Amino acid sequence: MPLYPEIEAVYKYLSEKLNSLDIAYIHLVDHSSMGSPVVPQELKKQIRSSFKNTIILSGGYDLERADKDIQHGFGDLIAFGRPFISNPDLVERFKKNWNLTGNPGSELLYSDGEEGYTDYSLF
Ligand SMILES: Cc1cc2nc3c(=O)[nH]c(=O)nc-3n(C[C@H](O)[C@H](O)[C@H](O)COP(=O)(O)O)c2cc1C
Repeated sequence: MPLYPEIEAVYKYLSEKLNSLDIAYIHLVDHSSMGSPVVPQELKKQIRSSFKNTIILSGGYDLERADKDIQHGFGDLIAFGRPFISNPDLVERFKKNWNLTGNPGSELLYSDGEEGYTDYSLF
């Protein structure tokens, strides 16, 4: 069930019009892994086919899903947010197929005190 009936038409229109500005990329964020409504796959495909330049996808990705979505052509690049907080060496971990420290809990984001951004276990 879409958030509103015209949602696909609106984003199709926007992504086509953004072509005429020749902007470098659209960063398409799906915050469903943080509790927001899911961005439907069809809508992502629609934006992909309307917009000619780079599409960056993000939201709840791990390496496997990132590889899959790139292979399927859903986007050109995948952005990682929270995994970088708890894994500052994220790229190296991906390359070496090392385990990741889990995402930080939302209670530790924008919080005061010592616990949070810099004290995640590196092993
Ligand atoms: C501490 C923090 C700050 C963020 N600030 C912004 C922001 O200012 N603008 C924005 O569009 N997204 C922001 N995000 C969302 C991220 O860009 C990303 O879309 C989100 O974390 C989902 O990706 P992830 O599952 O890889 O973390 C923020 C996320 C975190 C954890």
